[in-house]
Amino acid sequence: MTISDKLKKARDFEAHYGPFITDKNRPAFHLTPTIGWMNDPNGFSIYKGEYHLFYQYHPYETKWGPMHWGHVKTRDFLHWERLPVALAPDTEYDRNGCFSGSAVELPDGRQLLMYTGVKQVREENGELRDRQTQCVALGDGVNYEKYGKNPVITSSGLPEGGSPFDFRDPKLWREGDTYYAVVGNRPADGSGSVLLYESSDCMRWTYKGVLAACHNQFGRMWECPDFFELDGRYVLLTSPEEMTAIGLEFHAGHGTLCLIGEYDRARCHLDRENVQAIDYGLDFYAPQTLLTSDGRRVMIGWMQNWETVGCQPRNVRCFGQMTLPRELSIRDGRLIQTPVRELEAARSYQILYRNVLLNGMTTLQNVRGRVIDMTVKIRPASQSAVYSWFKINVAGDGEHMTTIRYKPECNTIRIDRTRCGFPHDIVNVRDFVARPRGGEIKLRIVLDKYSMELFVNDGEQAATTVIYTDVSADAISFESLGSVVMDVEKYDLLFD
Ligand code: FRU
Repeated sequence: MTISDKLKKARDFEAHYGPFITDKNRPAFHLTPTIGWMNDPNGFSIYKGEYHLFYQYHPYETKWGPMHWGHVKTRDFLHWERLPVALAPDTEYDRNGCFSGSAVELPDGRQLLMYTGVKQVREENGELRDRQTQCVALGDGVNYEKYGKNPVITSSGLPEGGSPFDFRDPKLWREGDTYYAVVGNRPADGSGSVLLYESSDCMRWTYKGVLAACHNQFGRMWECPDFFELDGRYVLLTSPEEMTAIGLEFHAGHGTLCLIGEYDRARCHLDRENVQAIDYGLDFYAPQTLLTSDGRRVMIGWMQNWETVGCQPRNVRCFGQMTLPRELSIRDGRLIQTPVRELEAARSYQILYRNVLLNGMTTLQNVRGRVIDMTVKIRPASQSAVYSWFKINVAGDGEHMTTIRYKPECNTIRIDRTRCGFPHDIVNVRDFVARPRGGEIKLRIVLDKYSMELFVNDGEQAATTVIYTDVSADAISFESLGSVVMDVEKYDLLFD
């Protein structure tokens, strides 16, 4: 297999400079790029019994640039083995970037990557614009060769009015002998849609129809779609650009959207019954899923917000993290997310408190840490008691902290990193509504140095935020206005 100069240059660069970034500088189990910049997860899939993950990658700087595909694999979603850069923008049709896409294992044992090739062209009016087409590459799990007849889907396969400039992020899957792909597109109304394609070999594709459309209701361009069956329903995940806020369900900017409904195969259409956000925090985008061999639908997302990518800690050599992979299910028509069960194997040093009465602020002996898995259950101190709010402060050191606050009166949860120590004037607070559930609320918090992932009521909601507090700030405190009783179960997470 020949390796282009661009790919070789990127591989040499990461092999040479990657080792300068030691494990000490990285989160314990959240994936970061080998060096440089990372955005969307790509090609999250099983190949020869291992989970492969690729990512949007610009090794040379900690900012977005001509997109390569970085590559890792794992057996447990927690330990990531680094592999050399998989794709570089080294051909005529992808010379400005290998954008997001996905992967499958072919019956002949090869791994197929499908991605968006970006090529800047000068339009008749003199404007430079990105033309986007879908391309494939074939390989052995380390080295990939781009298909000689790329691109495999061009703008000629678009429905009337579909934009050739916003046509990206193919997500592939196989059903029997047939392959399908969903691709994001901007239709004539200027918003977003998800198109469905079909193929028998992943090389020749037929356009089938519009699986779902935005109609300017939920943002505009729909990026990074993923479509799958889950617990007897069908789920479409997508990440809209230019959202405007809708209540406390959707925040403005780059958002995430989960459509749940019935799949009408004859019309190639998802008849949606429920629409919700995927993550209610500050840093979550472009998630992608795979199906494990034991039947779990596992999702991983980019743990970052496009709006704040310019706000980086000083002197970083790598920027961008992936979330902890999460198992998905559906309960009461809604998406449920819980940390992959593999995380439980890393739990050590259990600390348990039951029925702690709280009115004011307290700390609990041995409840601290920045690489932890902690579940807190809170209820009113008695049946007639009411309390105004309850807070958990993490990553604290007297000066810094990040807070989760629950207000029973309006059933809202707030995550607030205003005091995490980050010197940028950015959005630091997010509020969202929890599902009512008797008098008790259950908060599971996973911390891994520079992030906090919150799972409410056994995964009914997830809220993710990056924090930049020095890891020495590891204090945790509990606070309430009014009397509450809480149970706390905390583990350190240990990795070898
Ligand atoms: C989403 C996205 C994708 C695109 C990629 C480029 O974050 O804009 O639509 O393929 O990033 O890096």
